[in-house]
Amino acid sequence: MLITFEGIDGAGKSTQIRKLAAWLARKGMETLSLREPGGTETAESIRSLLLESSGEITPLGELLLFSASRAEIVQQVIIPALESGKTVILDRFYDSTTAYQGYGRGLDLDMLRSIIAISTCGLVPDITFFLDIEPEAALMRKFSEKSIPIAFDNSELDRMERSGLEFYRKVRAGYLETIALEKNRFACLEAIEPPDAIHKRITGILTDRFNL
Ligand SMILES: Nc1ncnc2c1ncn2[C@@H]1O[C@H](COP(=O)(O)OP(=O)(O)OP(=O)(O)O)[C@@H](O)[C@H]1O
Ligand SMILES: [Mg+2]
Repeated sequence: MLITFEGIDGAGKSTQIRKLAAWLARKGMETLSLREPGGTETAESIRSLLLESSGEITPLGELLLFSASRAEIVQQVIIPALESGKTVILDRFYDSTTAYQGYGRGLDLDMLRSIIAISTCGLVPDITFFLDIEPEAALMRKFSEKSIPIAFDNSELDRMERSGLEFYRKVRAGYLETIALEKNRFACLEAIEPPDAIHKRITGILTDRFNL
């Protein structure tokens, strides 16, 4: 089974994946948790290029690098793991490409669909958990995580992070449009709830849908 987690930065994906992996392990299920981009030697090199490179990368270049990294992890790791009966949990998959590169950066959605179909070898998750949160709240979490002092005045925060917030608003709207087109695959969760409450919802949904 392939389970993916989506949501803007700071929504709580990694937190929930850790809890879910432990829950599945307690049930005796062999589980593999992976993050994108990365997961193979080549894919990790591409990750460094994407995240650490000081040179400029165009939106199209960014898309193709993400897609190259995805093609590696899909063929070399994910498909073999699924074939051997493992449950694979992905911290982001192609819905991030649609939301970030499509709705966020403005790349053509039809072109994205074609590239996604190629880079994933047509692999579609059995279920995708979308952790929904207002960009302001997610940003606050990231600030407190990095111990950056928060300006309590909202207008101050907007001024500091205006372009960031606008970008994340587009990304969140993109996720919501994507979900509306494919309601059956997605489970939407209020990411503002406490971590344990969200975890309970996730395990409840998995139990209902897949008899886990
Ligand atoms: N439900 C929650 N309520 C309050 N704080 C949370 C919740 N879930 C996670 N956090 C905290 O918010 C921060 C971001 O969480 P996490 O790293 O899980 O998010 P993420 O979606 O994986 O972010 P990124 O996309 O940047 O990897 C962490 O400090 C985490 O402890
Ligand atoms: Mg994370």
